Amino acid sequence: LSNENNTMIAGNELAGKLFHHLLVNSEQGINALHYLQQRGFTNEMINTFSIGYAPDSWETLVNFFEKRNVPLDLMEKVGLLSKRDFDGKLFDRFRNRVIFPIWNKEGKVIGFGGRVLGNEQPKYLNSADSIIFNKSTIVYGLHIARPEMRKKNEAVLFEGYVDVISAWQAGVKNGVATLGTALTNEQAKLIRRNAETVIICYDSDNAGLKATYRAISILEANNCYVKVARLPEGYDPDDYIQKKGSEKFRSEVLIANQTTMAFKMGFLRKGRNLQNEGERMKYIEDVLLEITKLSNAIERDHYTRQLAEEFSLSLDALKQELYRIYKIGK
Ligand code: GTP
Ligand code: MN
Ligand code: MN
Ligand code: MN
Ligand code: MN
Repeated sequence: LSNENNTMIAGNELAGKLFHHLLVNSEQGINALHYLQQRGFTNEMINTFSIGYAPDSWETLVNFFEKRNVPLDLMEKVGLLSKRDFDGKLFDRFRNRVIFPIWNKEGKVIGFGGRVLGNEQPKYLNSADSIIFNKSTIVYGLHIARPEMRKKNEAVLFEGYVDVISAWQAGVKNGVATLGTALTNEQAKLIRRNAETVIICYDSDNAGLKATYRAISILEANNCYVKVARLPEGYDPDDYIQKKGSEKFRSEVLIANQTTMAFKMGFLRKGRNLQNEGERMKYIEDVLLEITKLSNAIERDHYTRQLAEEFSLSLDALKQELYRIYKIGK
């Protein structure tokens, strides 16, 4: 690591400590602390994930870094400070936000996610991509989840920081997340190095379901054994835990997970009227296409039979189609 990188990381580490201190010990942090408490954050969660608060001020960090001789240009590079257009004056970029530090594999702070306390936009602000912070290669929470991931040979993949933290409090200590972007091969490899099985537990809304679909193929391409959690429609994992409790989250959402094929069949069904012959045929074709992607002949046989039974089709006809269109079987 170059000197510059070390200084950038050191600046982030210092800022993280300041933000955490401001949240838990200062008058300025009281609103943010109440906000978190209202959302069900415990002291244990706040401390384990070093959650902080960036005050409603333009120069708290600027002054803090100046006093400690941290080079301001580097703190601009990592996205903690911004430069005012008309006179080049630096100011704090994170203001009046709850701060979630983001760590590298070694547990060093390399960036932040900052959440507004209300419904303003953007909801989250992230550190700028830099030489030390590359969103597409970071797996949030990895250094905290790693021991449990290794022990269980299993990881739970979430969409958001809050989901990881909430699940951790609910006893699920092998949770990690991407930073609001689609899962990349690099992230899948990092996860796979610590666990073979991955349970995807994204938000159960349209965006989350689509992202689940894509994450399945990326994880499978990286030799993960993938399952999908059963989160009822409209919930995200944190919502579910707050409303239904930890026990139900573990048993009915995570342990009661489904195979990727079952998930895909449910997904392909959505919005289709299977009473309609045309739509039913389209659905059957889509499922057959998914069946061809299964590498295991026993699984292919299982789902082909299931499809035949559900729609009272002849198994022979389905198998002929698999062979005719996809050259699978026979
Ligand atoms: P809460 O609303 O606090 O419960 O957060 P959430 O985790 O439910 O957020 P959501 O499902 O909307 O988004 C999941 C993840 O996407 C977040 O953890 C962020 O990493 C990212 N994200 C969401 N909104 C934004 C945004 O406005 N800007 C950026 N950069 N990232 C976002
Ligand atoms: Mn603490
Ligand atoms: Mn979401
Ligand atoms: Mn969410
Ligand atoms: Mn949420």
